[in-house]
Amino acid sequence: MKITIVGTGYVGLVTGTCFAEVGIEVVCVDIDVKKIGNLKKGISPIYEPGLDDMIARNVEKGRLHFTTDLSACVNDTDVIFIAVGTPPDEDGSADLKYVLDVSKTIGEHMDKHILVVTKSTVPVGTAKKVRNTIQNELDKRGISIDFDVASNPEFLKEGDAISDFMKPDRIVVGVESEKATDIMARLYKPFTLNGHPVIFMDVPSAEMTKYAANSMLATKISFMNDIANICEIVGADVNLVRKGIGSDSRIGTKFIYPGIGYGGSCFPKDVKALIKTADSLGYSMRILKAVEDVNDDQKSVLFNKLLNHFDGDIKGKTIGLWGLSFKPQTDDMREAPALVIIEKLLSAGCKVKAYDPVAMHEAQRILGDAIEYSKDPYEAFIDTDAQFLLTEWTEFRFPNWNVIKKLVKNPVLFDGRNIYDRNELNSIGFAYYCIGVQTRKS
Ligand SMILES: NC(=O)c1ccc[n+]([C@@H]2O[C@H](COP(=O)([O-])OP(=O)(O)OC[C@H]3O[C@@H](n4cnc5c(N)ncnc54)[C@H](O)[C@@H]3O)[C@@H](O)[C@H]2O)c1
Repeated sequence: MKITIVGTGYVGLVTGTCFAEVGIEVVCVDIDVKKIGNLKKGISPIYEPGLDDMIARNVEKGRLHFTTDLSACVNDTDVIFIAVGTPPDEDGSADLKYVLDVSKTIGEHMDKHILVVTKSTVPVGTAKKVRNTIQNELDKRGISIDFDVASNPEFLKEGDAISDFMKPDRIVVGVESEKATDIMARLYKPFTLNGHPVIFMDVPSAEMTKYAANSMLATKISFMNDIANICEIVGADVNLVRKGIGSDSRIGTKFIYPGIGYGGSCFPKDVKALIKTADSLGYSMRILKAVEDVNDDQKSVLFNKLLNHFDGDIKGKTIGLWGLSFKPQTDDMREAPALVIIEKLLSAGCKVKAYDPVAMHEAQRILGDAIEYSKDPYEAFIDTDAQFLLTEWTEFRFPNWNVIKKLVKNPVLFDGRNIYDRNELNSIGFAYYCIGVQTRKS
């Protein structure tokens, strides 16, 4: 089987490479000439553990190809996956421009049966729009060709994307015909040999499943952050509360860690898009609106603790940051809480020094010389008035606090991920603040 993936970003590149890995012939298409040029030279546009080697291996075996020319692929493929971006429009709804551009190109060139699959996260009704767009182009050309559309939302996590794709919890596929069901079942068979199910359903349900999944995860995060904030007020310790509730199998241990708010390319935009879809149909997603509110506020929690510690007098202070990406194992800084915190620190007249194991280039691209970039974690804390942990990369887990104590001007640590031990830090002479645990100013 030959397949084409349109949009060679995070999802498209991982999807294409993983399909090639099991022996399928794959062409990855993108309009970004530089990205495709780099991929042809073996340079990946993203940091994702294990991906570079997998790309190189499959290119060498002749199973993975890159191009900017979709029209040349259309009639030499059985399936086209659309994996382009669906960024938020000005009003928060998903912008389908890129998805529909691709559909138009398919319709302009299609001469045989193709299964067109939306893998991008798209609102209910998008597959219908894709079908109509393709059909319009066929009508303009005065030809009649049988084709199928399907929905196959992607659930991979950045940082663990390959394992998520190769060994998925589940694969959700929305279909309208037996032919499409057969093709998708064949395509995913190599990934389901260990019992991971392909769940077939109607197209609108598949489209909604993706939004429901991300909204549920975002809700868990905001719920736990809300609990953390009330824990601080009443004098409870959220770390203990988390363990207490997580041991209930109905609740589970995942996604109940308090922190500085969710970010990334998916949760913020998908929650917004679902709220918007519902609003436009006269229904208010009240829970999700609260989820967003809590998340927006949560990004300021560490900054407010800093203000409180210094009685509002932070102008001219130097702040050291560990971690910039929105979560570990990725260089993705889209909607990263670090960006909100940095903006607040700079607006308040602070100087910011930062270190991240892989997101430094991305930070430089976004922030330019507004902050100082350090070569290693220790350098980021030299002569600082306060130290922030924003992303829980493994290399930040076991620092030598005695060494750091000598480097900093003022030892006060704001732990946005609750990974350090208050007693240890206090005994070395650090003031220590985390999320969801009351701290009296010392
Ligand atoms: N990033 C994730 O973790 C993740 C996970 C699941 C689902 N998704 C969803 O998958 C979709 C893609 O996300 P992403 O993070 O891979 O985006 P991305 O921004 O990393 O990549 C999108 C790519 O599409 C390309 N593109 C745009 N228009 C094109 C066109 N007409 N023809 C060919 N290429 C075109 C862009 O140049 C870009 O390289 C989004 O809908 C997103 O919500 C993302």
